[in-house]
Amino acid sequence: MSNRGGEAPARITLSLHGGKVCPVTVGPGAIADLTGILREIGAFRLAVITDSNLETTHAASVAALARSSGAEAVVLAFPAGERSKTRATKESLEDRMIDAGLGRDAAVLAVGGGVAGDLAGFVAATYMRGIPFVHIPTSLIAMADAAIGGKTGVDTPRGKNLIGAFHQPAAVLADTRFLGTLPRRELTAGFAEMAKAGAVADAGLFRALEALAERLANGDVAAVEEALPAAVQVKASVVSADEKESGLRKILNFGHTVGHGIEADGGYAMAHGEAVSIGMIVEAEIGVRLGILAPEAAGRISALLRGMGLPVAPPEGTSPSRVWKASASDKKARGGRIEIVVPREIGEMARGERDFGIPIADEVALEAMEACWTPSR
Ligand SMILES: NC(=O)c1ccc[n+]([C@@H]2O[C@H](COP(=O)([O-])OP(=O)(O)OC[C@H]3O[C@@H](n4cnc5c(N)ncnc54)[C@H](O)[C@@H]3O)[C@@H](O)[C@H]2O)c1
Ligand SMILES: [Zn+2]
Repeated sequence: MSNRGGEAPARITLSLHGGKVCPVTVGPGAIADLTGILREIGAFRLAVITDSNLETTHAASVAALARSSGAEAVVLAFPAGERSKTRATKESLEDRMIDAGLGRDAAVLAVGGGVAGDLAGFVAATYMRGIPFVHIPTSLIAMADAAIGGKTGVDTPRGKNLIGAFHQPAAVLADTRFLGTLPRRELTAGFAEMAKAGAVADAGLFRALEALAERLANGDVAAVEEALPAAVQVKASVVSADEKESGLRKILNFGHTVGHGIEADGGYAMAHGEAVSIGMIVEAEIGVRLGILAPEAAGRISALLRGMGLPVAPPEGTSPSRVWKASASDKKARGGRIEIVVPREIGEMARGERDFGIPIADEVALEAMEACWTPSR
């Protein structure tokens, strides 16, 4: 890893289509870059979109900083939680922006977790046919994953993230000082995405996480700061190479096919990162059974996740067949068969026939899942 955390924020640049770039600042004090970013995008009328948990804390302090930089800022909050990630919330935010007199020269600051980021980004994508926005992620899931890559959107009763747009932020300011107030369960959920980044593309990050696991499990934000820049770099590199998810970007779905099935089967009671943790273990087990991944590597993945305090066994009340069925209804399913992506070793993905997707027969998946569902493991 090139960036050590703790002292100064790291700066990472995403190269995008058409020669555009998206600067990402990650680390303690990253928010100080806001003044310069606002000047660069030339927006001084701002909607600070956030959720009800952060309205009077982090969002208020971001709005105060923006105002001290000479901008006008209104804070618009929606009720916290995934249930707010809907077209109805988007519509209400848009109406409030119109009522506040915000026009084409306005910009959005998305302050919060992945829900605020996905919603606010989608609002910015279509407001007045598209205005700039800045991601200011405050949860670890949002810093390590959701804020990077330009995917925005909302859920519908028929499925998650079905309506949305690609809209790249003008910048991402991931200030790790915000993590100090994040509930422990939310912090731990974010470790799953960092472990995923290491497993799919950065063996050095994976080793670093193994060394930091105990401190991470204790909620040590300084340990997060040591590993986070490398995790962000993985996502940034993958997005730079494949902005609109045609091939390489698929590798970020490790753990997510089965993870989504687990989330759906459990009625979305689990944190996303918890479901992804179990999903990575099941998908690694499938990889082992297909002879793609060595059992020792699969063992390292589950040992790391357990060591960081993540769940590694499926929750009670879920069943392999129902989870697999729920995975199949996921929009990533293709041609009647479900695909997963699996590392061939830590830090390097196996290739399928066309790309990184590996079609999985139902029997193989169900056998691997039965093994993971057996309590003795
Ligand atoms: N766009 C993408 O590429 C992408 C990638 C991954 C996940 N996502 C989306 O992200 C969402 C999950 O993100 P999430 O886990 O951040 O959920 P979230 O936004 O609901 O945040 C989780 C909880 O933590 C609270 N919170 C956030 N930051 C806090 C802080 N600093 N202090 C105290 N409380 C804080 C929030 O109020 C919320 O209650 C899902 O909707 C998922 O689809 C999107
Ligand atoms: Zn995820």
